[in-house]
This record gives sequence, structure tokens and C-alpha cells, in this order.
Amino acid sequence: MIDYEKIIKEYKTPTYVYDIDTLINRVKYLQDKLSNKYDLVFAVKANTFIPKYIENYISRYEICSAGEFDIVNKLNISHNKMVISGVNKDESAIENMIKNYDILKYTIESITQFELLSNLSKKYNKQIHVLIRLTSGNQFGVSEEDFKYILKNIDKNYLLFDGIEYFSGTQKKSINRIEKEIDYLIEFTKNIEDEFNINIEEIEYGIGLPVYYYQDDEFNEDEFLDNVKNILDKIKNQKVTLEIGRSIASSCGSYLTSVVDIKTNKYGNYVIVDGGINHLVYYGQTMAMKIPHYEILPKKELEEDVYNICGSLCTINDFLVKNIKTRKLSINDVFIFKNTGAYSSTEGISLFLSRDLPKVVIKENNNYKLVRTNIKTSEMNFPNEI
Ligand SMILES: Cc1ncc(COP(=O)(O)O)c(C=O)c1O
Repeated sequence: MIDYEKIIKEYKTPTYVYDIDTLINRVKYLQDKLSNKYDLVFAVKANTFIPKYIENYISRYEICSAGEFDIVNKLNISHNKMVISGVNKDESAIENMIKNYDILKYTIESITQFELLSNLSKKYNKQIHVLIRLTSGNQFGVSEEDFKYILKNIDKNYLLFDGIEYFSGTQKKSINRIEKEIDYLIEFTKNIEDEFNINIEEIEYGIGLPVYYYQDDEFNEDEFLDNVKNILDKIKNQKVTLEIGRSIASSCGSYLTSVVDIKTNKYGNYVIVDGGINHLVYYGQTMAMKIPHYEILPKKELEEDVYNICGSLCTINDFLVKNIKTRKLSINDVFIFKNTGAYSSTEGISLFLSRDLPKVVIKENNNYKLVRTNIKTSEMNFPNEI
């Protein structure tokens, strides 16, 4: 249990809290549901504050930028657990990695990246392991033709081809869709193996496991994951690793934001909180009409009213949630939005209006520590010369 009162008192708001016990239990739950057969890869983009805490529980990290690499590197995550992925592999960052570290794997996501990785591995006379990312019909990865071109032209002395990376989107609620993708991957793998007379060792699959964020959602996750496992079990000849961000990280996070103002006009009651949509991202939220899981502190028995909860930005879009029926609110009440461990801290439009970034608190073994203070974005939005 998180002692939210203590957090409010000691750290104020807006603040994210990440509960490490919940996080680790979540990873164990996913592994258990998948019979510990499929290795988990944490997509660092989902939350850059928690990777170190799960190092002993997952097999890899998916890292998509030089910045993400800096973070995991400073966290002393083993290079042997890093898969360097991403649509734009900047040359100097990749050169630094190849020259100075023994990274587990790199993905090849274009012909340009193929040439870059080939040249750098030759330049430093270093063999590197690669996955070729197959596109799912967007700007990511390569076409089937380019996939084959790369395999025809790969210099096996330098680039060791381990398998396929495939990611086709997040929040996949359709089990049929996952099954179609797996069938496609099995067929494609077989074609490549036959044509090139090779064995493909692994498939790294961004499965896009869904998170049900809203109070109205009905989801039997146990059953869903049983079905997922049965589908994955169709892959007989490759090791399968699952790249996951949202489903690993969401449940460990809460976002605390305080009521700073309340007003009423002929359209309704408007509550202003000290956070906003710059800090809070719920996938699938449309016009703030869906009601996420939340609680309000302090707990009080009061008559109810209907409110629109708005953030502190100068945009009419800054609604966290509309038309919620809840106990009468007052200034300094605190909203605790649940399931905010994935993407809220990384995807929000944090620089808008030069508001400070929320603090980040980690709860581990009943200890609370402030791991990021409320950084001033006014300093980032400031011109160095006038
Ligand atoms: C290549 C890749 N793998 C994995 C993920 C994680 O997806 P999710 O958070 O849905 O698990 C993403 C998210 O954008 C991604 O781009």
C-alpha cells in the first residue's frame, strides 16, 4: 500500500509515485501467465525511472535513442541486456556504442542503418549481433524485399544475424489480431529459412499487450494471457522475446495532483488542478470523457456534485476528466490517478507553458525516495541569447 498522505505532506504535488513491489509482482505475473517460457524485454520509453529495479527479472531492454542509452548506461544496466533499436540511429551515438561497449544486439531498421552498422563493425573490427526489423506497414522496419536484400548482402564476419524484430502497435485488445501477426511471422520466418537455407534463432515481438485504464472497462486478463500464450506456443522453432512497455509499467504508477481552484459557470463546475495533460497520458482517452481509476484525498463523506477536472495549461484541451460525479471538492484536495506508470512521465507535452516537471518518488520496501525533483522547464524554454 502506498502512503499517499505521507507523499503529499513530504513532497507536495504534482508528483508521480512508482511502487517497486507492484512493478516486480507485475513482471512475475506476466512471466507466470506465459509459463516463464517467453523472455520479457522492457521498452525503456515507457518509463525511464524504473529500469534498474527490474534488472533481475527481465532479460533485455529495448533502447530507442541515444538519450535512452545514456539513461540505462548511467543506471549501470548490463550492456549484455541492451537491444539498440529505433528508427533514427545517429551515427556518433552508435559509433560510441560499438567502439566502447559490448552491446547484446542492434536492430536494423533500414538500408541506411544496415550500411551504418556494417561500416562501424568493420571499422572497429567487432562482430555485432543484429535483428532485422520487419515493417508492419509504416515508417518502422524494412519491407520483405529489403529484408532479403540485407540478408543477401550481409557480411557474416561482422554482422551476426539472429532473427526478426516485429512491432505493430500498442494496446492490442484483439486476440485475433495477435494471432494473425504470429501466423504471418511464422510464415515469413519459414520462407526466409528456406530461401537462405538458414535457421532463424529468434523473434523479438512487440506484442502491444493492453492495459485497461477506465472504470467501465471489462477485461479478463488471465483469460486474455492464456490465449496469448497458446498463440505464442505456435512458434516452435524460434526463441521468442516479448518487447513490452505499457503492460509492465502502468500498474506501478500513480500521479498526484492537487486542486488549486474551483469555479462554476452556466456550463458546469470546473476544478483546476496543479498538474494537467502535460503530465498525464491515458491511452484511448477521448475528449476526457472516459473515467480512469482514481481516488481523492482526504477521504470524506460529503454530498456529491459533478465536476470537470482541468489542468494548469492555457489550452481548452487541458481536461483530465469530464463530468465526474464525486464528493464535494475543495481547494487542496488531491486527486490520485492510477495506472500512470507507463508513458505519462515520458509522453506528456511537458514543455508547454513552462510549468515545472512533476517530482518523481520511488517506493521500495516501504521506503520513499525522491528520485527527481520538480525540474524547471522555464530553463529549457529560455533563449540563451537575447
Ligand atoms: C519497437 C517497440 N517495441 C515495444 C514497444 C512497447 O509497446 P507497449 O508499450 O505497447 O508494450 C514500443 C512502443 O512504442 C515500440 O515502439
